[in-house]
Parts: sequence; structure tokens; C-alpha cells
Amino acid sequence: MNILLTGGTGYIGSHTAAVLAAANHQVVLYDNLCNSQASVADRLQTITGKTLPLVIGDIRNTLLLTDTLKTHQIEAVIHFAGLKAVGDSVRDPVTYFDNNVAGTLSLLQAMQATAVKTLVFSSSATVYGEPQYLPYDEKHPTRAMNPYGRSKLHIEEILADLATAHADWRIACLRYFNPVGAHESGLIGEDPEGIPNNLMPFVARVASGALPRLTIFGNDYETPDGTGVRDYVHVMDLAEGHLAALESLGKGSAPIRYTNLGTGIGVSVLELVQAFKDASGQDIPSVVSDRRPGDLPAYYADATKAKQELGWSATRTLADMCQSTWHFQVCAKQRAN
Ligand code: NAD
Ligand code: WQD
Repeated sequence: MNILLTGGTGYIGSHTAAVLAAANHQVVLYDNLCNSQASVADRLQTITGKTLPLVIGDIRNTLLLTDTLKTHQIEAVIHFAGLKAVGDSVRDPVTYFDNNVAGTLSLLQAMQATAVKTLVFSSSATVYGEPQYLPYDEKHPTRAMNPYGRSKLHIEEILADLATAHADWRIACLRYFNPVGAHESGLIGEDPEGIPNNLMPFVARVASGALPRLTIFGNDYETPDGTGVRDYVHVMDLAEGHLAALESLGKGSAPIRYTNLGTGIGVSVLELVQAFKDASGQDIPSVVSDRRPGDLPAYYADATKAKQELGWSATRTLADMCQSTWHFQVCAKQRAN
């Protein structure tokens, strides 16, 4: 299939592009490069041996999107493009709703104009909010706790209304937990600008000496070792989940489906730090601070539905996640020198 990846030079988009190309799909990347580099497209050519066209543009540019869908005879869209920093969204909600929600509406208008009716959407476990129970299954109430999470929830609700009005659409809302890790080549991975917000890239920078120490945000949670527990999932497992979701969006499927993509395993901050020390052979100096406002003590996925409906489950281990992250970190440092 001819597939458009909005946000395709980003972290998850680029790994999904590699998996789709390996499965002989024709992939077109569409990205405004606000949080990634065009060079990712070159590295994808090295990985896949194929040229993946990159259209540099904003998803709010409906005309350019429409032209791109037509020119490349796109049959399906995977929609990764979006801003994802919770803290930034609290400080600047209007930018987040404009980029994520208005941007998605622009994409949907372009798809309607070109009769492209197959969509995979990057949603997030953050839509579940305060756990009423754990693990989160797809029936868990959705009540996001920040503008970023609400932008994802609003988009899910728009897609639900679209699917109700037009039952010939096929939409998969994939609720990611905590994606980490990198492609085995070391050519693509998570490489945020500036100081990372998220745990894994921060730990990787401490291990490489780029940052002096890790600050552990609280060790007084009601969890086995007092530190926060999350469901970390290897980005390559996540990428394969998108292929499975796309292939499951046939005529027989419901117009819209919601699916958790996680391992179902909760891992604490201290457990991840120890796993990274083991994988990298590096020390990770750490200090404990107060809790980070808005953080939940623990959450992880019930991944049953993905197994039943997509035939997908995560296979890579925490050690794989740490090893691939460290390999990418080392390769990125070599590329920079
Ligand atoms: P990322 O920032 O690496 O990738 C997003 C890409 O979208 C970037 O390349 C960015 O340049 C592009 N982009 C952003 N706004 C755009 C716009 N208006 N027009 C065109 N391109 C635009 O982030 P990621 O980690 O790859 O996340 C991809 C998607 O998955 C996002 O929608 C994110 O909300 C969602 N998600 C991520 C996580 C996570 O922890 N990484 C978890 C759950 C959901
Ligand atoms: C993980 C754990 C922290 C950094 C975020 C978004 C969520 C989703 C995934 C988009 C927590 C602790 C972290 C640090 C630490 N993104 N931590 N020191 O907060 O679970 O989820 O990314 O959809 O929406 O909220 O991920 O990696 O920031 O934190 O102690 O320097 O690590 O307290 O327990 P989080 P994270």
C-alpha cells in the first residue's frame, strides 16, 4: 500500500517507516521538522535500501496535504504528527490544541477531499487519566489530566463522530504507553532537543556523561521500591503494532477501534536505571527529589485486546530497550564527532 506518515521523521514515525518499508509498503514522509531533522530520511534510505520521499510541510497546510495525498496516490495515513510535551502543553495549551487538534482536522479534510478513508492515529495512555483500576484496559474511563492528553482525547472524539457519520472509514486509535529504545542499526532513535523530559533519554545522556546525574522524581510512592512505575514498550514493537493495525483495518473491522500498545509489565524508575547500568556498563549517578507535579504513581497496560484483535504483543525485553538505546547514544556521539 501507499502510506503517508505524518510526523514521519519523528521518533516513532521513523521506526514505523522502517518496518513498513521492510514489509514492501510504499512510504511517504510528511513533517514540518519542528522536532526532527530531514537527515532522518537519509538514514532511513540506508536502513531500508529504498528512497522514502519526504514532503516538508505542516499538517495545518490542507492544500499541501491534499496535493501530497493525490500526487503519491496515498491509500492510508498513519498520523504521528503532534506536539507531545505535557509540561509545555500546560504552559501553552492554545499552541497544543492548534497544532494537534486543528492539525488533525486539516488532515481529515484533506483525506475527505481525496477519498482516503483508512487512518491509524497515535493516541496515548495519557487519555485514561487517574487510574480507576489497573492495568488500564480500553474500557477504562477516559479523563485526561493535562492539555496534551485532552488534545489526544478531543481527537479520539472527533474520529468517533467521523466514524459514526461515515461507516466506510477504517480508523485505529492506538494508545501508546511509554515508547523507548531504538532501531538495531543505531541510525535512528529518540534524540530530543535540549534536556530530555522523559526518563530513558535522560538516563542515556547521564550514562554517556552528557548530563551529570539523574534526578529521581520521588521515591515515596506506594510502589514496590517507592519510585514511579510505567509500562515501557520497545519502539520497534510499537512500530510492528502499527503494521498489524494497518493490516487489520479490512472491510470486516468496525469503523473505529481503540487499542492499547504496551507490554502489560510495570517497571519502576530504579529498575530501569539498574537495567541501563547492566546494558551500558556505565554508572548512573542519581539523586532523589520531590515528586514531579502531575505524575501518577503507577500505570501499565492490559494488552489483551491487541493480541486478540491485531495478533500483536510486545516481544522485546527491558534489556533490549536499554541496550538499543545505549547503542544509539554511542552511534549518535560518533556521528557528532
Ligand atoms: P516526535 O516529536 O519525535 O515526532 C512527532 C513528529 O511530528 C516530529 O517529527 C515533528 O516534527 C512532527 N510535527 C509536529 N507537529 C507537526 C505539524 N504541525 N506538522 C507537521 N509535522 C509536525 O514524537 P514521537 O515520540 O515520535 O510521537 C509521535 C506521536 O505519538 C505523537 O503524536 C505523540 O503525541 C504520540 N505519542 C508519543 C508517546 C511518546 O512517549 N513518545 C507516547 C504516546 C503517544
Ligand atoms: C517516567 C517515570 C517519572 C524523568 C510521558 C507523558 C505521556 C507519554 C509518555 C506522550 C516517571 C520518572 C522521569 C526524570 C524521573 N507521552 N522520571 N526523572 O511521565 O510516564 O509519560 O511520556 O503521550 O503523556 O506524560 O514518562 O519518561 O517522563 O517518566 O524520575 O528525569 O520516570 O517520575 O515516574 P511519563 P517519563
